Amino acid sequence: MSYEIQDHILDVAVLGAGGSGLRASLGCAEKGLKTACISKVYPTRSHTVAAQGGVGAALGNMGKDDWKWHMYDTVKGSDWLGDQDSIEYLCSNAPEAVIELEHLGMPFSRNKDGKIYQRPFGGHSTEYGKGEPAHRACAAADRTGHAMLHTLYQQCLKHDVQFYNEYFALDLIKEDQGEICGFFAINIQDGSMHRFLAKITILATGGYGKIFQSSTSAHICTGDGAGMSLRAGLPLSDMEFIQFHPTGIYGVGVLISEAARGEGGYLKNSEGKRFMLDYAPHAKDLAARDVISRFISMEIKEGRGCGPNKDYINLHLDHLDPVLLAKRLPGISESARTFCGVDINKEPIPVIPTVHFCMGGIPTNFRSEVLVPTSSNTEEVCRGLMAIGEGACASVHGANRLGTNALAELLVFGKGAAIRASEVLEKEKHNKKPSQSQTDEIISRFDGILHNKGDISVGQLRDKMQKTVQSRFGVYRDEETLALGNEELARLSSELSHIEVKDKSSVFNTDIVEALELHNLMQISRSVGASAINRTESRGAHAREDFPDRDDENWMNHSIVWMNEDKFEVTKRPVRMTTISNKAKVIAPEVRIY
Ligand code: FUM
Repeated sequence: MSYEIQDHILDVAVLGAGGSGLRASLGCAEKGLKTACISKVYPTRSHTVAAQGGVGAALGNMGKDDWKWHMYDTVKGSDWLGDQDSIEYLCSNAPEAVIELEHLGMPFSRNKDGKIYQRPFGGHSTEYGKGEPAHRACAAADRTGHAMLHTLYQQCLKHDVQFYNEYFALDLIKEDQGEICGFFAINIQDGSMHRFLAKITILATGGYGKIFQSSTSAHICTGDGAGMSLRAGLPLSDMEFIQFHPTGIYGVGVLISEAARGEGGYLKNSEGKRFMLDYAPHAKDLAARDVISRFISMEIKEGRGCGPNKDYINLHLDHLDPVLLAKRLPGISESARTFCGVDINKEPIPVIPTVHFCMGGIPTNFRSEVLVPTSSNTEEVCRGLMAIGEGACASVHGANRLGTNALAELLVFGKGAAIRASEVLEKEKHNKKPSQSQTDEIISRFDGILHNKGDISVGQLRDKMQKTVQSRFGVYRDEETLALGNEELARLSSELSHIEVKDKSSVFNTDIVEALELHNLMQISRSVGASAINRTESRGAHAREDFPDRDDENWMNHSIVWMNEDKFEVTKRPVRMTTISNKAKVIAPEVRIY
């Protein structure tokens, strides 16, 4: 079919309007760059809105703190897979990023001195892990992401960022020499076709939690940027590392913030025992997430789960002051009441580990430039393309993210991407011309999916894929289960060509949008499976029962996965054990105990 294509000529096209996309858009607009922010949903519906507990920054408002302690905790939390230059960049810039946000109007909760309120969070400590828990999570009650997203959106509007809301991106566009020069999108509202042609494209497309059946992620978390990157011949990094948040509401998957434990809540098994006191005597219920999720799973496996089926754990807040609960945790009080009929002042909340965050994504350096690792253990910058936020892998989280570091990442790397983009654009004066043949390919792929005749609906195939991923790529993994998962996914992938999109209309055709999302999800699931079976060790969120130990000799390496036709090939890239400045010291690997 032939389409009329509308071109938009820009300095910077930011794809995604969550926290990182908005922060980058704001930064670019402030620098006078012609910036558009393109999003498949209205910006304030982006998934950042769901973030609860806080944004990590060593402000020291509630006790002594230091960004270098934050850096130590983050490296340890990452199980030494994080790139230490990126982690330094995150932790050293987080305090300024939070203060800036405060000045932009973010309604933070306050301590008794009127400063930003900060609460403890899992894995955050003082004195390089030897001191008391750090009060580092800067919070707006337990609705921090909501407050952040609205603040940033208002600032973007003030700075005349051009928004294209409810546009779905199809693929990256290259010029004839293969450099990225923008992306193709359809306007969901009317089906019109658009090319966003930009000197720099910033992918801020979020995570891909929806490869799983149960997750705290919104339905929009389908990893669209990662899918686009794979199809453009670019690799993804560390896809095997999927974070399970210890406290999703049992049977529903809705998040109960770690802030609940930060404010004094604790976990108990069916024997009424606070089991984390045995497993993590120092950090207790505020150990890192991968550690707590593993121990909850172990308690359940060994028959000490709660309820008639012994398949969940109780999170107690009923010993805490009701005034504190109402003031600091209003959101989770409501979630517990709505989703499981629990009054947190009187009863525990039934919880289980639930998929929450994707540590892997599009590999970048700390300047947010997309990297293409080469065979000789070096890497090249992919000109014209940057990535930030959960969809990127900078890699600040390594094998396991600490709570609050995602919101910090959005701010720090969103702003950093804008700084880098304006530096690059001082030399880059002209937009590149898109390749016509590639434009034709993108349209023909779209038409192929829209007009395909088949016998399976998008929803049916997505269900099958999510069930496979949920049952094969869980908290504990082994060769046999992973191999089964990979075989099943290969078979399900071939069923993509049997999907029939029933709705052929151009106005709000959610059927075609979901079909396109499913293509992204399927390619991402396969990248996860290929990376997980390849990593023969346990590290952070990747717990292999057949390889229970961390293997620094062979695996201080990022997994790099490439899609080649229907094959997913995995290579390695060494972890960057260098710092940017001499203020920070490289943190050598240690045994990870909390
Ligand atoms: O538990 C939470 O509030 C989640 C925070 C985070 O993932 O950073």
